[in-house]
Amino acid sequence: MPIGVFDSGYGGLTILKDIVARLPEYDYLYLGDNARAPYGTRSFDVVYDFTLQAVKALFERGCHLVILACNTASAKALRSIQQNDLPDIDPSRRVLGVIRPTVEVLPEITKTKHIGLLATPGTVASHSYAMELEKMGAGMVITEYACPMWVPLIENREADSPGADYFVKKYIDGIMAEDPEIDTLVLGCTHYPILIEKIKQFAPDNVKIFAQGSRVADSLADYLRRHPEIEEKCMKGGNIEFLTTESPDKFDSLASMFLGREVKSSRLLIETM
Ligand code: DGL
Repeated sequence: MPIGVFDSGYGGLTILKDIVARLPEYDYLYLGDNARAPYGTRSFDVVYDFTLQAVKALFERGCHLVILACNTASAKALRSIQQNDLPDIDPSRRVLGVIRPTVEVLPEITKTKHIGLLATPGTVASHSYAMELEKMGAGMVITEYACPMWVPLIENREADSPGADYFVKKYIDGIMAEDPEIDTLVLGCTHYPILIEKIKQFAPDNVKIFAQGSRVADSLADYLRRHPEIEEKCMKGGNIEFLTTESPDKFDSLASMFLGREVKSSRLLIETM
C-alpha cells in the first residue's frame, strides 16, 4: 500500500520531493486539504479535527504509514492522534510528523545553541518546537517567530515580488532582533523552502538556514529500516498519486512550483472523508 503524505495544501509537496528523491522505490499517496487551507491560523481543535479526518481518509485508501508533512498539523494534532486515536482506529498503523526529526538534528548544526524558528502562528502558539527541544535537554535557546504573510505570498504567486522582499526582511530582522545570538534559522513551515533564496539574502551571513525536507526523508528511511513490519506493507512501484479537496485544475497549476514536476491530481470531497 502507498505511504500517505498529508498537508493542509501545497507545502507538504516540498517534503514529498525530498522523500521521493531519497526513497524513489515506494508508492506515495499525497493528500492536500486545499479547500480548508491555510491551517496555520486555525485553532487547535479545528486543526486536530481536520487532520484526523485526513489521516482516516488515507488509511481507508490503504496507507499503513502516514507522514504529516505539515508543521501545523504535526504541532497540533500528531500527539493526540498517536496516543488517543490510533489505538482505537488500528494500532498496527503509524502516523509520523516533521517536528521531532527536525529538532533531533539541531544540536549537530548550531554552535551558539541559539535557534530561531520561523513558522505559522499556529505552530508558534503550540510551542511544540520548544517542548521537543526541552525534552532533548541539550540546553538550547529557541526563539519562535510567526511569519503569517509568507504562506499567502507563496500561494498567491508573489514569492519573487518586491512585496516578498519586504515581508522576508521584516520577519528576519524581527527574529534576529529578539536574539542576535541565533546562528540557525529553522524553516518550520513546509511552504517556506519556496522562499529560501530570499531568506538567505536577508539573513546575516553567519546564520544557517535549515529546511527540513531532506532530514525528514532521512528519518523516514531510518524508520523503515528499523520497522520491517511496516516497511513490508509499503508498495514498491515508484508511483505517486495526488488528492486534493479543492479543484484539481487549481491544485495542479500551483503544485508543480512546489514539487518541481508536473502534477495530475484528483478531487477528494470533504464530505466523503
Ligand atoms: N504547510 C503548513 C505548515 O507546514 C503551513 C500552511 C498552512 O498554514 O496551512 O505549517
